[in-house]
Amino acid sequence: MPQTPRLDALVRDIAERMAAAEERGRVATYIPELACIDPARFGISVCLADGRRISAGDATRPFSIQSVSKVFALAVALGRIGDGLWRRCGREPSSNAFNSVVDLELEGGKPRNPFVNAGAIVVTDAILAGRTPKEALAEMLGFVRAAAGDDDIYMDAGLARSENLTGHRNWSLAHFLKSTDNLLHDCELTLGTYFHQCAIEMSCEQLARAGRFLAGLRAEDDLISRRNVRSINALMMTCGHYDGSGAFAYRVGLPGKSGVGGGIMAVVPGVASIAVWSPGLDRYGNSLLGTQALEALSEGMGWSVF
Ligand code: DON
Repeated sequence: MPQTPRLDALVRDIAERMAAAEERGRVATYIPELACIDPARFGISVCLADGRRISAGDATRPFSIQSVSKVFALAVALGRIGDGLWRRCGREPSSNAFNSVVDLELEGGKPRNPFVNAGAIVVTDAILAGRTPKEALAEMLGFVRAAAGDDDIYMDAGLARSENLTGHRNWSLAHFLKSTDNLLHDCELTLGTYFHQCAIEMSCEQLARAGRFLAGLRAEDDLISRRNVRSINALMMTCGHYDGSGAFAYRVGLPGKSGVGGGIMAVVPGVASIAVWSPGLDRYGNSLLGTQALEALSEGMGWSVF
């Protein structure tokens, strides 16, 4: 593939520039374990259609994927219940923060989309139907491992426990959902599962590999239907960065999903799957340098879908 030497040099150059950047954003502090992650970290990994992988920086160091897990949960939920999910959750972008309570109240208990926290809690609740949290989590982790082709991926139970104690916004969202009959299980059960799903740890290399099913790079693809791939990419483009989704689409031009751990997974349909990690966040809760890195990569390679 003739583009590889150029991509190699670009990825290396981006990693060097991001490692040296002074303005790095702010690490999330509302989850105590995330507050002590070193903001100097930066990793990037790109998987190409022919199976090659180009990585730089802290690409093999695991980090908490947090909201990036919502993509895998959505894939599992759509596979299980299909379009019925949309009776309980919208598909529209949001103009308030990812953990907004007011949005949920304005919409009468139907979350705007599956990537804001309220929507992700509903998705997890749907996956739980008829199963124990342990079974639901095993299915989600199994899906992530299969997508990455790597069994060396785990959940940080300590982090999940601490979010369980401090995640009062999510508790209020869950109780509000319950009050509008949009939660099938007890708040404890659904949130306990959701916090564990968010506490999955992966490196950039693992996450980039796990995103291949959304880029259409897996020849053997049996993970989810082509239709669901299209739906998830559309939602990542329009809602994957919350109230910063428009700016991300404008700057990067790729479907992507961020997490407060500082990771972003992005997809170049038919060409590449990308993961970046830098723990400092912008005011929307998206990785500041991760977004800059993706912008430079997309611009340099002409990878915007627009
Ligand atoms: O529920 C939360 O608040 C976190 N476990 C996940 C939020 C998140 O990652 C938002 N993304 N940027």
